[in-house]
This record gives sequence, C-alpha cells and structure tokens, in this order.
Amino acid sequence: MFYEPGARDTELLPHDPFKALVAPRPIGWVSTLSGGAVNLAPYSFFNAICDRPPMVMFSSSGMKDSATFAHATREFVWNLPTYALSEAMNLTSAALPRGESEFAHAGLSTAPSRIVDTPRVAESPVAFECRVTQTLELVDVDGAATNRHVVIGQVVGVHLDESFIDDRGQVDTAALAPIARCGYTDEYTVVDALFRMKRPDDVPSWR
Ligand SMILES: Cc1cc2nc3c(=O)[nH]c(=O)nc-3n(C[C@H](O)[C@H](O)[C@H](O)COP(=O)(O)O)c2cc1C
Repeated sequence: MFYEPGARDTELLPHDPFKALVAPRPIGWVSTLSGGAVNLAPYSFFNAICDRPPMVMFSSSGMKDSATFAHATREFVWNLPTYALSEAMNLTSAALPRGESEFAHAGLSTAPSRIVDTPRVAESPVAFECRVTQTLELVDVDGAATNRHVVIGQVVGVHLDESFIDDRGQVDTAALAPIARCGYTDEYTVVDALFRMKRPDDVPSWR
C-alpha cells in the first residue's frame, strides 16, 4: 500500500502507524533544572546524532518543561532507562504541577553531576551530562512552524557503572538492558540480546 500522511485509510489503520514503523526508539530520560527544582521526563523522539563531538537530541511536542528548562539553562542530563527502571520511567511522564518532583513521584533519587548543575538519576547505570548547543523549532515543507522543538546537547561528561564493562573493555549493552519505545503508547522493547556481523570493509569491532 501507499498513502500520504494525513490521508491514510483510517478504517484499515485507525491509528497513525508512523511511530510503529520507526521502532524501537531509544528513550531520552531527560533531567533538567529550574531554580532549585529538578525535572525529569522521558522523550522517545530522542537519539544520538553524532559521536565527534558526542551529541544527543530530544524533540518536544510543544514547549514542554524539559525543553523550556534546557533552553533556559543551556544544559540537561540524559539518563539511561533500563528494564529494571521501566515503571519508574513511565511514572516520570506524569504531568505533575511545576515544582513537584518526578524523582519523588517515581521513588528515584538524584545524584550530583560533575560538570553541569543538573543532577542525574542515581539508579541509572549511564548518564550523559550535556550542554545545549542548539534549540530549534521544526518547520514543515511549506516553512510553517510546527510547535515541535528540538534540543541538541553536546555530551560533556559520561557516568558509567563499571560493572557493565566486559573483559574486552567493551560495554555489555545487553546486560544494561536498555528499554526503547515501539509503536503505540504502551509498547516497549528491551535490548537483552545482540547479534554480530563483520563489516565488509574490515572496520574493527570497536568502531
Ligand atoms: C516513553 C515515553 C516517551 C515520550 N516521548 C515524548 C517525546 O518524544 N516528545 C514529547 O513531547 N513527549 C514525550 N512523552 C511525553 C512526556 O514525557 C510528558 O508529556 C511529560 O509530562 C513531559 O514532561 P516535562 O513537561 O517535564 O518535560 C513521552 C512519554 C513516554 C512515557
């Protein structure tokens, strides 16, 4: 079949499958700071977009608190949501009143960052301290504003639980058990197994 977005057969596909077709999507579990209050929320329009320098981005549908605070403070922290933290991650998506802590709401604790002021999720085995390089509003093909806002951050500090480093000096991603978002609101997956393929041009495995 073929359809143009917005003109699909809504009897066959009552719900837009766009997000089910680009899956899984890693989750940006983003902590930000506003005044003294720490904010935490998940964003699945999230990804690493560059490794030299290391950069990540998340996209906010409307200028939500995380984007607002990251834009204002020029920093945020990405925390890795693991399978063990999935319930807590989900709880932090609740629309709490500003100033009410998602950390307390989800039974999580904060740990200090080293370079930025924003704390991280103590229970998460990986966190990236990020400085905002750009915030931009997406425009559509006609140049019209979408009220979708992308925040890009350069990773300036990495927290990593060393117990996830294997005897080859590589991070064991399957042991980390990162969760990721699939198509519809309640669908997730977990990375708990890897398969390997050699690159045809003999690129070393650690690249
Ligand atoms: C797994 C998951 C992924 C989400 N991804 C996004 C996203 O990519 N963009 C977005 O605007 N909201 C997303 N949300 C909803 C926000 O987390 C939610 O609106 C939250 O209250 C925003 O909090 P904030 O205003 O403190 O930033 C997601 C929710 C969940 C549970």
